[in-house]
Amino acid sequence: MPTVKEILDSMDYGPAPESATEVLGWLATRGQFGHYIDGGFTVPADLFTTANPATGEALAEVSQGSTADITAAVAAARRALPKWAKLPGHERAKWLYALARQLQKRARFLAVLETLDNGKPIRESRDVDIPLAIRHFYHHAGWAELVETEFPGEAPHGVCGQIIPWNFPLLMLAWKVAPALAAGNTVVLKPAEQTPLSALAFAEICAEIGLPKGVVNIVTGDGRTGADLVAAPVDKLAFTGSTEVGRAIRRASAGSGKALTLELGGKSPFIVFEDADLDAAIEGVVNAIWFNQGQVCCAGSRLLVAEAIAAPFTRKLTARLQKLRTGDPLDKCTDLGAIVSPAQLARIRDLVSAGEAAGGELVQAEAQLPAAGNFCAPGLLLGTEPANPCWSAEIFGPIATMTSFRTPAEAVELANNTRYGLAATIWSENITLALDIAARVRAGVVWINGTNLFDAGAGFGGMRESGFGREGGREGMAAYLRAPTAKPRPEGAPGALDAAPHPGKPATGELSIDRTAKLYIGGKQARPDSGQSYRVTAKGHEIGLAPLGSRKDIRNAVEAAHKATGWGKTTGHNRAQVLYYLAENLAARQGEFEARLREMGADPAEAGATVARAFFYAAWADKFDGAVKSTQAAKVTLAVPEPFGVMGVVCPDAAPLLGFASLVLPAIAMGNRVVAVPSASMPFAATDLYQVFDTSDLPGGVVNIVTGAKDELAKVLAQHDDVAALWYCGEAQGRAMVETESAGNLKATWTLENRDWTQAQGREFLTRATQVKTIWVPYGA
Ligand code: NAI
Repeated sequence: MPTVKEILDSMDYGPAPESATEVLGWLATRGQFGHYIDGGFTVPADLFTTANPATGEALAEVSQGSTADITAAVAAARRALPKWAKLPGHERAKWLYALARQLQKRARFLAVLETLDNGKPIRESRDVDIPLAIRHFYHHAGWAELVETEFPGEAPHGVCGQIIPWNFPLLMLAWKVAPALAAGNTVVLKPAEQTPLSALAFAEICAEIGLPKGVVNIVTGDGRTGADLVAAPVDKLAFTGSTEVGRAIRRASAGSGKALTLELGGKSPFIVFEDADLDAAIEGVVNAIWFNQGQVCCAGSRLLVAEAIAAPFTRKLTARLQKLRTGDPLDKCTDLGAIVSPAQLARIRDLVSAGEAAGGELVQAEAQLPAAGNFCAPGLLLGTEPANPCWSAEIFGPIATMTSFRTPAEAVELANNTRYGLAATIWSENITLALDIAARVRAGVVWINGTNLFDAGAGFGGMRESGFGREGGREGMAAYLRAPTAKPRPEGAPGALDAAPHPGKPATGELSIDRTAKLYIGGKQARPDSGQSYRVTAKGHEIGLAPLGSRKDIRNAVEAAHKATGWGKTTGHNRAQVLYYLAENLAARQGEFEARLREMGADPAEAGATVARAFFYAAWADKFDGAVKSTQAAKVTLAVPEPFGVMGVVCPDAAPLLGFASLVLPAIAMGNRVVAVPSASMPFAATDLYQVFDTSDLPGGVVNIVTGAKDELAKVLAQHDDVAALWYCGEAQGRAMVETESAGNLKATWTLENRDWTQAQGREFLTRATQVKTIWVPYGA
């Protein structure tokens, strides 16, 4: 025991442990856990141990969920669904309130349990994880109340399969379960194998409050149980975890018709400009990368610091680093607890060693770490260049990389030099600069002069390989509801295309003039790379030749679309002007289009309907607004719908003009540039549009058209890393192919069946053409 004088001399903290007695007592009485299925716990079977990462001691034994367990849980959720979905929103709200209240009553118990199972400091589980989880249930109780009026006509997906990671076990459960239940879905949730205990405690709470059986089911187990849940007959899948597993889930569920949202990894930039409040930014770093031992998907793990302040910043940060206390997670004075598992610790060490070997200089806190348990001292890897493995790989531990930059443009380039796009932090006292950078970083969430801010009312989720879909707020609710599905119509997909014998020349005798359409790339008509055309016939007669586009043509079209960056940046008003002009020009030529449609055997009424559609989306171009969210004090949280960038749009075969317009127009109205594959059997309505585009001030590259074999071209678009989103209308086989092939860069896909295109317009199309960027800005502080 140190003397009082010694304590005053050193100013060291004394231990302030939180008591684990109650939780350990609970664990001792339970000992072994079964799954929570259909309102009761199953007999524990096929047990594995969950251990305390800080000591390695076993906490409890839980069951490895089998295929049969998943089948039973999904069946229970299915049985519970009709009644739950039909409950008036107000009744569902009561249940969500009851869950929130019960969690609140158990807050301390749950905080200790979470800390024991995960290794995170009690300060964080007590002040962050549990309060945010509770807030999530309260917030969504409100949504249950409002869902019928705020989302009229929409319905829950049905049974949701939800798979969560170990870094925020109860909070991730809340993010998944609360909106699902509020919307009227029932759920089967699989917690991570490293941290199943708070989900099991939550199951007990569901039982205690008498939540109707089968509405919530919890099945524990590892990735095999997760894979079984993905394969089970559920209606929606929601996953948070590694990009690798997210990709596997995308492939495994391709073509199943299951709705899917993925919240995956990140390597988020934390940008400090030279005019930043340095001390505040230093505390920001503490929160960005040393919160939860850096095991945070949106951790500010790549520090980008203006060269002019790099030296003082590094000095201050390394000094701060030495003051962090790593140790007993139950001690209220602990800043960093234990890493979740020995495997994760080994992974961190291996990656950091590789980063050092590649020239990074590691600075780590020097304080003694506890002898037992999975502890890792917080650190920085200085001088990390983009070629360093630690630049690109998610370390998922308390080590940030640090790199300096000279200009804001370079900062943006470095920030976006990643395959991820989850979050970004910007530190600057210059509001013009900060908001300019916020617009230019590719991230689903941007924090200005703050970091790791979360709220149930704000959307959270990524771009690029960080996944798709949002959790939280209205957009998070929308992900658990679906618009009424349009009645499918048979598509009558064309068979193999009949290549013309003489490339580019129509068969002699049948046509008086050469009617060979071209591709449209970068605002210019272009011959296909192959030089090949295919015959287009109607009622047994050849009516012309269309270019047989190939991989190379798609690549050229994507490149041209990429160059048309101005379209996404221009105002909605300017886009509206172009679309009005386009609508007028189309109206002036309506008769020609009607004749063309008639000639191809399509409905001539498509022409008039397409004119109307162009006016409709011209009207929308400057009105699809975002929102200002009320989240935390002294903050304003903006939800800005942003275009994806370059989109692929593969159009229905059956409605050659209206189907094309119904998909391409909303996409460009929102600022996307499009590579479109029109109807293969009736391509001329689309290729005739070139003249309309050329006379309507549509900038070159905004719409590119490649005709040819639909699924061949769709596959190239799906695999293309520079295509951010892909819409595909077609048969089941093509839809499955597109979803499978898009897993490479995890592009957002929308696969739909042919339908009555006269009804196909509205907000759903605009929502699908955008992704929400959530920007947190200091306000009224
Ligand atoms: P993981 O992605 O394997 O685990 C997340 C969840 O997915 C767990 O519940 C797991 O059982 C389940 N799962 C695993 N394989 C599955 C499959 N084939 N089908 C369905 N579900 C499956 O993450 P892991 O291995 O624990 O961590 C590895 C790395 O992933 C970390 O170092 C970190 O870089 C990243 N990660 C990212 C997270 C995030 O929040 N974005 C969370 C956890 C990990």
